[in-house]
Amino acid sequence: MLASFFILLEAIPMDTLLQDLLNQLSNTNKIHDLDQLKSKILGHISSQMKGMKDLPIESRKEFGAKINQQKNYAEDLILKQREYILKQEQQRKLASETIDVTLSPRGNNLGTLHPISLSLNRMQDIFGQLGFDVADGPEIETDYYNFKALNIPDNHPARAMQDTFYTSSNNVLRTHTSPMQVRYAEKRKPPIKVIVPGRVYRVDMDATHSPMFHQMEGLWIEKGISFANLKGLVIEFLRKFFDDESLELRFRASFFSFTEPSAEVDIKSKSGKWLEVMGCGMVHPSVLRYMNIDPNEYSGFAFGMGIDRFTMIRYGINDLRLMFENDLDFLNQFRGEM
Ligand code: PHE
Repeated sequence: MLASFFILLEAIPMDTLLQDLLNQLSNTNKIHDLDQLKSKILGHISSQMKGMKDLPIESRKEFGAKINQQKNYAEDLILKQREYILKQEQQRKLASETIDVTLSPRGNNLGTLHPISLSLNRMQDIFGQLGFDVADGPEIETDYYNFKALNIPDNHPARAMQDTFYTSSNNVLRTHTSPMQVRYAEKRKPPIKVIVPGRVYRVDMDATHSPMFHQMEGLWIEKGISFANLKGLVIEFLRKFFDDESLELRFRASFFSFTEPSAEVDIKSKSGKWLEVMGCGMVHPSVLRYMNIDPNEYSGFAFGMGIDRFTMIRYGINDLRLMFENDLDFLNQFRGEM
């Protein structure tokens, strides 16, 4: 840089002040300083230009050409210095931002799937293979879908304030996933085969109850569907889910206002205890009518299960509250589970 300055400096006649200013160029290393020097240099050149009018006419042309030459030369030097400074700045920036790839890593904090997600995925896989669609629905539900269309009469205890969170006189946090039976089926024609997982809410809280928990609803409506189909499906599902071909289970007669007949299903635990895992039954004719489906032509069954409960049984978790505390030591135990 400097060397080429001087070679050219000798070739162009100029006063010592300009020469001195141009020499200072090579010492600038900030754009701001360069800009200040630039205005000094160009200021000096244009002030010389003003002196031209005092010269005799014959020498004006030569003088003007000389000044122009100085000006072009100075501008060229300034531009070169500008490029040089910018390049230096860029190199300084790159040097300060280098990444040391030899540093040891900070640890591999990959998350894991929550045990409830693991169960849900597993349920969806099994029912998916059996030809079920998956749907979801609103968590704030109307009284109509949560109760009335499910044949739950006005004075039914399930409507009482101690079980249900009301968000307004006509809306509730759904107390089960069953409202999706009518919501889903009223817009469709059978055959209908769907599962509906989701959050549900009840006023309840202890080691086995949480005000928010997860259920999965199932619905299969088609011509000629019977309780035998329900039983077959439930047995197949439970044995697959718990990965136990000889899992013992029993159907106990029960009551749900939206199914008739109704049953609850128990499975036998490793320690020989019967554990209730789901409710089910043949869809009640009144509910089929709410679905705009003719009960004389079609039949079907529905079932509902607690995803959290299935998860607790599968992994031997004894307190439901653990599921919702996001304790990393608890959650890390499910790393690698499918
Ligand atoms: N909705 C019922 C409950 O929450 C479960 C159920 C679903 C029962 C479908 C029968 C049919 O307990």
